[in-house]
Amino acid sequence: MASPSSTAAAAAAHRHCRLLALPLFLLVPSCLALLAEAGGIPTTLDGPFPPATRAFDRTLRQGSDDVPLTDPRLAPRVQPPAPEQIALAASADAGSLWVSWVTGRAQVGSNLTPLDPASVRSEVWYGEHSAAAGDTASYPQVATGSAEVYSQLYPYPGLLNYTSGVIHHVRLRGLRPATRYYYRCGDSSLPGGLSDERSFTTLPAAGAGSYPRRVAVVGDLGLTGNSTATVDHLAQNDPSLVLMVGDMTYANQYLTTGGKGATCFSCSFPDAPIRESYQPRWDGWGRFMEPITSKIPLMVIEGNHEIEPQGNGGEVTFVSYLARFAVPSKESGSNTKFYYSFNAGGIHFVMLGAYVDYNHTGAQYSWLERDLQMVDRQVTPWVVAAWHPPWYNSYSSHYQEFECMRQEMEDLLYRNHIDIVFAGHVHAYERMNRVFNYTLDPCAPVYINIGDGGNIEKIDIDHADDPGKCPSPGDNHPEFGGICHMNFTSGPAKGKFCWDRQPEWSAYRESSFGHGILEVVNSTYALWTWHRNQDAYGENSVGDQIYIVRQPDKCPLQPTSASSLNCPTGGCPSPMSTSSSGAHLAITSGQLFWKVLVIMSVVLICTVEATRIPMFPGLILQR
Ligand SMILES: *[C@@H]1O[C@H](CO)[C@@H](O)[C@H](O)[C@H]1NC(C)=O
Ligand SMILES: *[C@@H]1O[C@H](CO)[C@@H](O)[C@H](O)[C@H]1NC(C)=O
Ligand SMILES: *[C@@H]1O[C@H](CO)[C@@H](O)[C@H](O)[C@H]1NC(C)=O
Ligand SMILES: *[C@@H]1O[C@H](CO)[C@@H](O)[C@H](O)[C@H]1NC(C)=O
Ligand SMILES: *[C@@H]1O[C@H](CO)[C@@H](O)[C@H](O)[C@H]1NC(C)=O
Ligand SMILES: *[C@@H]1O[C@H](CO)[C@@H](O)[C@H](O)[C@H]1NC(C)=O
Ligand SMILES: [Fe+2]
Repeated sequence: MASPSSTAAAAAAHRHCRLLALPLFLLVPSCLALLAEAGGIPTTLDGPFPPATRAFDRTLRQGSDDVPLTDPRLAPRVQPPAPEQIALAASADAGSLWVSWVTGRAQVGSNLTPLDPASVRSEVWYGEHSAAAGDTASYPQVATGSAEVYSQLYPYPGLLNYTSGVIHHVRLRGLRPATRYYYRCGDSSLPGGLSDERSFTTLPAAGAGSYPRRVAVVGDLGLTGNSTATVDHLAQNDPSLVLMVGDMTYANQYLTTGGKGATCFSCSFPDAPIRESYQPRWDGWGRFMEPITSKIPLMVIEGNHEIEPQGNGGEVTFVSYLARFAVPSKESGSNTKFYYSFNAGGIHFVMLGAYVDYNHTGAQYSWLERDLQMVDRQVTPWVVAAWHPPWYNSYSSHYQEFECMRQEMEDLLYRNHIDIVFAGHVHAYERMNRVFNYTLDPCAPVYINIGDGGNIEKIDIDHADDPGKCPSPGDNHPEFGGICHMNFTSGPAKGKFCWDRQPEWSAYRESSFGHGILEVVNSTYALWTWHRNQDAYGENSVGDQIYIVRQPDKCPLQPTSASSLNCPTGGCPSPMSTSSSGAHLAITSGQLFWKVLVIMSVVLICTVEATRIPMFPGLILQR
């Protein structure tokens, strides 16, 4: 939000803060926040912020076409048996890493004979020094792994079956943290069976003083012209890790079926009870992402577009997601790719599954309880969670869709002081004020929705508080789990399903495509920047930027009692700090203070707006 006119804006803010705020001493903190915003980068300590919206730029189109499979970025670039779609993923710690790739050609059609995964080896040759072409002998190490193929079968007239190339996953171990390695993957026994040399730098070791340089966060990416713009911009920002919060390829939306350009799936295939998901798009996406993913780890979590039902009644799901991606599920004790955790320097990442049981009586919940209990905040001060559908979202699209999941899990995340939550699913950007149970709370996580990767379904522009845009119950039906829509029990929307203005828990929202970059500075400060696609070539322009500040002293941990946990052999590690009985009281009176502050800030903003002082150039403050 910093702009060339920020000095002028700061001056204006200063003038008017003096004029308006001095008689009302309570307004001074919000004036300071505005000053910080106008002159420098705001911090969450300046919040909660008065809700702000920047409207969709109507000179942009709301979407673009899919990139065709013949595009050089999507088409095969090597001949079998050479590896392609090479991708890295983090493992248990900085000393290990997954390398995945595909060999052989996928097939589409009828009467397919799947490739034999045993016909080709899974080897990674690697070391700290570059080797001459073809000289595997000069790499000091080789690791081997496993191979599989998957099929996507549709026993319905006209639909196409698919069987994949051979998908390889190899785990490297004993790596040195923060160290550059060179590697080739493939099968050294086959002529042309090895990739050319690639390189990566391992993540820093866990510790409060070492952080990954830049973590990119992207959601609902797809494979359109807009997705291309997002990925190019992301690569330009040079991240050391990518977090992908679900909905990756939109293979199930590819011209609705088989790349044949049918506009209406059910019209073209009235006898097919399930929708075809055109799997070659996954191979195109793997090649499209390879320039990034062969260098830095890509950490994925499933979204609804990964469900991809197949088989007789559509009862077989997530087959492509499960086969293609290596994630540290065994390493993190989850034993399912639907949820897992990992460390990257001093950040503990928790990736949750919204399309598998999230009930507090279920396996995911007890895994999460245990996982969070084991986090040592002296070693990984930051805990960042991510899953696909957001809990807090003020757009009409997917409004309150995953309210059941929130009701089951929010308390556990709050008690463990998760610092940041990333979600996607809604195709726009939104950053929340710190909020717990729909109440502003300085110790709650910062929720950020970043499902604006640029997929074929276009950008979301309607807000649930826009006149006539409040969804009807049932409009946003989750692909998994129940419906728990609720009316608000307090505040301006009390007794209603939607607010009549941007909710107080929504700090900033804008309908633009883009991605985010998280740069953790130290154990308490992290810089979050949202990069809009239209700013890719603009100098130093950013869509949204804020320091997320942890306050471990003000927000002590309130862990669940160890007795209720199913701890692994060796016992549960002792919690970092125990809750003081005063904490709850402090938070409650704190909430009252924040509420008063927000109301006063809104009053200030409205006054400023009324006197037409351009305090936020380019920002439209709703009402
Ligand atoms: C998406 O890409 C198209 C084609 O490049 C462009 O015209 C459009 O403005 C982009 N939309 C957004 C929201 O960035
Ligand atoms: C796809 O595979 C299923 C199961 O093997 C088979 O019943 C069906 O006929 C196949 N479809 C085509 C188009 O070959
Ligand atoms: C989760 O709990 C709700 C209500 O307690 C129940 O209706 C639902 O079936 C449960 N879901 C799963 C996947 O167990
Ligand atoms: C959240 O707020 C609702 C009222 O809206 C209340 O019934 C519920 O107990 C609260 N949950 C927690 C965990 O505080
Ligand atoms: C919830 O709010 C909607 C309007 O937003 C209203 O029509 C409905 O009656 C309310 N339901 C309850 C149970 O209060
Ligand atoms: C973290 O960095 C911020 C901003 O540079 C600084 O103000 C703060 O004192 C640092 N905190 C710690 C614990 O080093
Ligand atoms: Fe989604």
